[in-house]
Amino acid sequence: MELSGKCVLTGVKPTGTLHIGNYVGAIKPAIEMGNRVIENGGKLVMFVADYHAINFMKDPERLSQIIKEAACTYLACGLNPEKAIFFRQSDIPEVFEMTSLLTNFTPKGFMNKAHAYKAAVDKNVAKGEPNDAGINMGLYNYPILMAADILTYDSDYVPVGKDQVQHVEITADIAGAINACYKKEVLKLPKAITQENAAVLPGTDGRKMSKSYNNVIPLFADANEIKKAVMSIKTDCQDINAPKNPEDILLYQIARGFCASELVQEIEEGLKKGGMGYGTIKKMMAEAIANELAPIHERYMDHMAHYKDVEEMLQLGAQKARTLAKPVLENLKATIFNK
Ligand code: TRP
Repeated sequence: MELSGKCVLTGVKPTGTLHIGNYVGAIKPAIEMGNRVIENGGKLVMFVADYHAINFMKDPERLSQIIKEAACTYLACGLNPEKAIFFRQSDIPEVFEMTSLLTNFTPKGFMNKAHAYKAAVDKNVAKGEPNDAGINMGLYNYPILMAADILTYDSDYVPVGKDQVQHVEITADIAGAINACYKKEVLKLPKAITQENAAVLPGTDGRKMSKSYNNVIPLFADANEIKKAVMSIKTDCQDINAPKNPEDILLYQIARGFCASELVQEIEEGLKKGGMGYGTIKKMMAEAIANELAPIHERYMDHMAHYKDVEEMLQLGAQKARTLAKPVLENLKATIFNK
């Protein structure tokens, strides 16, 4: 992929407790891609999507806490705030102006088909409730706000999880509709980037690692908690000396998704030959994972303890972001109003 001079943008939804599946599947690849684009003379635009978060979190104290946590997580995981443009979504008024303009070019049918809304309707139907029971316009319009996030900065690439691809496609469709309407390229069509070969990291019970399954290895925990989670990884009762196919062994799948290649290889050989017990493997993994996470955890705690500095840095980021946003919005308004 040609990254030179491009703009990579992504929004981080504050979700509360994160696990190593979020780290390998979303946080790390987005930061790595961002670093690559910066090295190639392009831009990394990254923000905490705090307006999107209102939809599922209405407790002000908890909301501000998860926003803080999200910002500190990305910094701890290696986002360089001097090189990237890192800020809070709500500090950019241009995005909200953009959202209002975009609504006029967005077919209502697009929103009916957006997966988060559809899932909420399906739930209501299953419970025998009216289709739109408990559904607010924030949820319904979620993809338009996301489109504004993306289009306001002239983004080229948007690294996202598979569940967000539809939203980026809707964004490109809205931009395409505007360009077609005014017969010129007013807005840039973005492209979603997903990690094709990133295997979904399984959780301790073998299902996808997810907070809702209670099967996670936490990203920010002390060595003991990490050990407890690793020790709870499900194993079978094959004989310790039996040669095994590593692909069939959950421990190996988790190690491969997270641990350094030397350890993965050692486990692979131990399983193939037989003789390496699951308990031994778990101990090795718990130690390796705790070691790997320790510096990230430390940086995270440090940012949380000095959140004022983080806030200042986010404000600087917002200034930079607005410099990008203003001309894009002005250009769109000039086109629409023939100014
Ligand atoms: N909707 C995304 C999520 O749920 C977060 C997000 C908001 C986002 N705005 C964005 C992602 C713009 C990419 C681009 O994870």
